Amino acid sequence: MKALVYQGPGQKAWETVPDPVIQEPTDVIVRIDSSTICGTDLHILKGDVPAVKPGTILGHEAVGTITELGSAVTTLDVGDRVLVSCITSCGRCSYCREGHYGQCTGGGGWIFGHLIDGLQAEFARIPFAETSVYKIPEELTDEQVLFLADILPTAYEVGVLNGKVEPGDTIAVVGAGPIGLATIMTARLRSPAKIIAIDLDDGRLARALDFGADVVINNGAEDAIARVLELTNGRGVDTAIEAVGVPETFELCTELICAGGRVANVGVHGCSVTLHLEKLWIRNVAITTGLVDTFTTPRLLQLIEAGRLDATPFATHRFQLDETMEAYDVFADAAKTQALKVVLSGLPVESVSPTAATPAVAGV
Ligand SMILES: NC(=O)c1ccc[n+]([C@@H]2O[C@H](COP(=O)([O-])OP(=O)(O)OC[C@H]3O[C@@H](n4cnc5c(N)ncnc54)[C@H](O)[C@@H]3O)[C@@H](O)[C@H]2O)c1
Ligand SMILES: [Zn+2]
Ligand SMILES: [Zn+2]
Repeated sequence: MKALVYQGPGQKAWETVPDPVIQEPTDVIVRIDSSTICGTDLHILKGDVPAVKPGTILGHEAVGTITELGSAVTTLDVGDRVLVSCITSCGRCSYCREGHYGQCTGGGGWIFGHLIDGLQAEFARIPFAETSVYKIPEELTDEQVLFLADILPTAYEVGVLNGKVEPGDTIAVVGAGPIGLATIMTARLRSPAKIIAIDLDDGRLARALDFGADVVINNGAEDAIARVLELTNGRGVDTAIEAVGVPETFELCTELICAGGRVANVGVHGCSVTLHLEKLWIRNVAITTGLVDTFTTPRLLQLIEAGRLDATPFATHRFQLDETMEAYDVFADAAKTQALKVVLSGLPVESVSPTAATPAVAGV
């Protein structure tokens, strides 16, 4: 089959690799119908995630169709359409038993495109399938559910729920990339009175308004702290959600909140940040961090099914899987291309068996 293979910092290729095979009785093999690219894949390509070894297939978000079952799999079938999430759950370790799948110590957690081969490929091996994939209701399209694989539960759990957003709150979301926009979208499920989006890019701020922000602030052009204080009668916001991952924006969040307020950090930080405890200790603040657990995925799926959540506006660009290299260029140049998420579609295949599918794909 073909897949997008990381070849070391700055290098990747769409190349022929061996078809995945069942290795454990709890595995399944899926044909990838739709996949996408995450900002984290760009971090990996920069060499920021050394745990990813050259030769690893990238990607941790997909919708696929099961083509083969491990011998212990009884609740899934060949032909089932499933969401393959960025987080895998062994279902047995103490963290998984408590719903903290992101912290799985039994071989799960964030493994796709990180510790094992990922999902930007024609086929993939899915470990611990029964406790990790989600069957997709027939009436929902791939694009309606694909973003449940990462950005929606990440934004909702690590931003909105950790930040304890309550009805009537005023919140600030710093960073209006896919994660910040997903935070705005899912924060609305908890009825805040006002959502303030802050970013340096006016294009992203325009999208923030589309996704449900009430006020936008370009912190490159104006003093975001002064403006937020003005908007909150000098009080500050109840929750500030950090969705960038640089020291300035974390520090900005700590300055935007009211006494008793909360900073929910979602951004992945690559360097140390100063925590001004000398100013914060007296203000009863709470600061949370997190890797997504995906325990809210079934609930978010229900909201999509009920028509109360629509993630399709994230899909700004569409490619075939074998155009993944071009899709990376478009995604990486988001300031120019205005890309939010790119959808990579698997080519139609005659048969669902990996060996039979390869010539059909290569022939197009
Ligand atoms: N915690 C988790 O589990 C988890 C999961 C996925 C992604 N992330 C992280 O979330 C963060 C956001 O992801 P994304 O895909 O939306 O990234 P992105 O790069 O697409 O978006 C970041 C946004 O921040 C803006 N920005 C940059 N510097 C800024 C500044 N100084 N002030 C205000 N805005 C600024 C950019 O203009 C951009 O719109 C990243 O750090 C990513 O790695 C975390
Ligand atoms: Zn991701
Ligand atoms: Zn586990």
